[in-house]
Amino acid sequence: MTMRVHVKVRRFDPDTDQSPWWSEHDLDAEPSDRVLDVLNKIKWEQDGKLAYRRSCAHGICGSDAMRINGMNYLACKVLVKDLGSNITVEPLLGLPVIKDLIVDMELFFEHYRSIMPYLVNNDPVPTKERLQSPEEHERYDDTTKCILCAACTTSCPSFWATGDYLGPSAIVQAHRFIFDSRDQAAADRLDILNQSSGVWRCRTIYNCTSACPKEIKVTKAIGEVKKALLFNRF
Ligand code: SF4
Ligand code: F3S
Ligand code: FES
Repeated sequence: MTMRVHVKVRRFDPDTDQSPWWSEHDLDAEPSDRVLDVLNKIKWEQDGKLAYRRSCAHGICGSDAMRINGMNYLACKVLVKDLGSNITVEPLLGLPVIKDLIVDMELFFEHYRSIMPYLVNNDPVPTKERLQSPEEHERYDDTTKCILCAACTTSCPSFWATGDYLGPSAIVQAHRFIFDSRDQAAADRLDILNQSSGVWRCRTIYNCTSACPKEIKVTKAIGEVKKALLFNRF
């Protein structure tokens, strides 16, 4: 049955606004509509200036993470029926707003690049693939699911406190290679994560795990990296 929803959207246009403000919209939505459908309706039918990122609309590209009713979600994955008839949409916290719901992701990707997010193996290239047992793959399988949406990092109070903290997403990406039996740069990544901006900034708050749309056990992965550092075992 169609629902009447009231949507508040946090707005800011650096060309015209001195400070952020809220736009308010009333519209009909199906319970099975996603927040992305609601935003599209607002943009297409009420206010063409509303700015937000989106691409795949199916939880794959990671471009539409935003704060919805106080929690980080992908707008294309959260359903209206799970939110009720009052919906508040804000940009991710902890990153500068470019316009409306679009934040500047440069710091996030700088942190991502800093942990060497690629396979390092200096052995001669084999004629066939580099083999790995199912047990070896299992060690990092969960962290391969990351889509770099930033929902975890921008829900972390330690990241809000200081943007220097590399953040849960960068640690998840490091985990994916540190525990890969084919990789040879685990010690270098662990050195990076042992610095003052690394894993020890994590206070085990768990917001990251709750926010992850791919249900990655983010806090567990961070704990495994901490253990690898403490016991020099990886
Ligand atoms: Fe997004 Fe989850 Fe990856 Fe964090 S770990 S960037 S929340 S997919
Ligand atoms: Fe932050 Fe997650 Fe740690 S919310 S403090 S990175 S457990
Ligand atoms: Fe691609 Fe939502 S639009 S993840």
